Amino acid sequence: MSDLLLTKENLTWRDIAREVAEKHIRPIAAEYDRRQEYPWEAAKALASAGLFGTWIPKEYGGSAGETPVLDLCLVVEELSRVCGGMGVGFAVNALGSFPILLAGTDEQKQRYLPDVAAGRRLIAFCLSEKMAGSDAGSMATRAVKDGDHFVISGEKKWTTNGGVAEIYSVFAVTDPNSRSRRISAFVVEKGMPGFSIGKIEDKMGIRCIPVVETIFDQVRVGPANLLGGREGYGFKHAMETLDHARPGVAAQAVGLAQGALDYALHWVSRRVQFGAPLSSQGQIQGRLADMQAKVSAARHLVHAAALNIDRGASNIGFLAAQAKLFATNAAMEVTTEAVQLFGGYGFMKDYPIEKFMRDAKITQIYEGTNEIQRLVISRNLIKSAMHMDHLAPYCPMPWLDNKQKPN
Ligand code: CAA
Repeated sequence: MSDLLLTKENLTWRDIAREVAEKHIRPIAAEYDRRQEYPWEAAKALASAGLFGTWIPKEYGGSAGETPVLDLCLVVEELSRVCGGMGVGFAVNALGSFPILLAGTDEQKQRYLPDVAAGRRLIAFCLSEKMAGSDAGSMATRAVKDGDHFVISGEKKWTTNGGVAEIYSVFAVTDPNSRSRRISAFVVEKGMPGFSIGKIEDKMGIRCIPVVETIFDQVRVGPANLLGGREGYGFKHAMETLDHARPGVAAQAVGLAQGALDYALHWVSRRVQFGAPLSSQGQIQGRLADMQAKVSAARHLVHAAALNIDRGASNIGFLAAQAKLFATNAAMEVTTEAVQLFGGYGFMKDYPIEKFMRDAKITQIYEGTNEIQRLVISRNLIKSAMHMDHLAPYCPMPWLDNKQKPN
């Protein structure tokens, strides 16, 4: 959205994030990417600026205003504009805390959210497994009841911020015989006996942020750690969480695309070939225009999805999936084009642009691959086709009588 459509509060969060990003993240982004090391000093700067409280209500120690998800997206975009790794390293705290926020008991919210909001403890999300990626419902991690406690055993895959996070929202099977009430959600804390970090992944992008396997070897948790105090609602909580969090990934993609466009624009305006800056060539101008239009369209979709979530719309999964699908594809296209505009220099690690392309790739994959986003969108679309009878007079279908409608 243009600045005129954003509130004063939205602009304040965006400007704070922009300042922290320029001062504390841009100068170190390449180095931490090379070292694959979590940038603790930058995270401390985000915490000092109050950014971890953006989406958490005031009663739980945060500073959420009227539009917490939109504010979260504005912050994630600004961080990702300078470093996609730090963008997701921040956003994943929303992914990890949404289950508690959306489904936790008041006691669970009071116990965990103030620490997250203050940036004192990071929080992560453990859903995927080696054999259960897109098909999240087929997970094998078990939580077996023992008295009023649960014993969690299994391995999770691709836990972003695993190891640096101290709190984990974990999904496990409590009733293997049930179809729709199979899975429950738990909160597990670092240091609980049996919980450990397994393989630390060596990644193409977002390299400053750890992505790991998390291992649960008979981790015993009490009833107070069963999310919402209810068994059987874990899959629903996971899906609702993803509906809330996917605009954050889309915002990460917008930030990456914008950041790559910034560098590309700077480059083509100064790089002289054939006696003139590249930007004087018509074919370069046309490509810049296409890149800008993609960034703007993606940003509008992200803001629309976020605002709908903030205003309590019912079809948020549909909107979130569109924002994620479009914005992450736009990020891949724009960052690839930016590398091309840098020519031979773009391929070299001496310049910041190749990192944007590497960081962008994962946005098309995590928090639901874009194939899954298409599935969510098309399922919603096909359902809505049942409400299109007003078109029937214009589309005669002699093979259907009134009793034979498609189902
Ligand atoms: N909100 C609430 N409930 C929902 C829902 C939603 N958005 N979507 C589905 N449900 C409910 C359904 O109503 C149904 O409930 P009942 O059994 O009570 O009827 C139940 O969940 C099962 O629904 P489906 O039959 O639609 O489920 P499915 O097995 O076909 O899967 C899916 C649906 C959309 C494909 C889902 O599995 C999915 O989103 N997969 C992708 C998982 C994903 O995004 N993983 C990424 C993890 S995070 C990550 O990437 C790492 C990181 O740290 C960044």
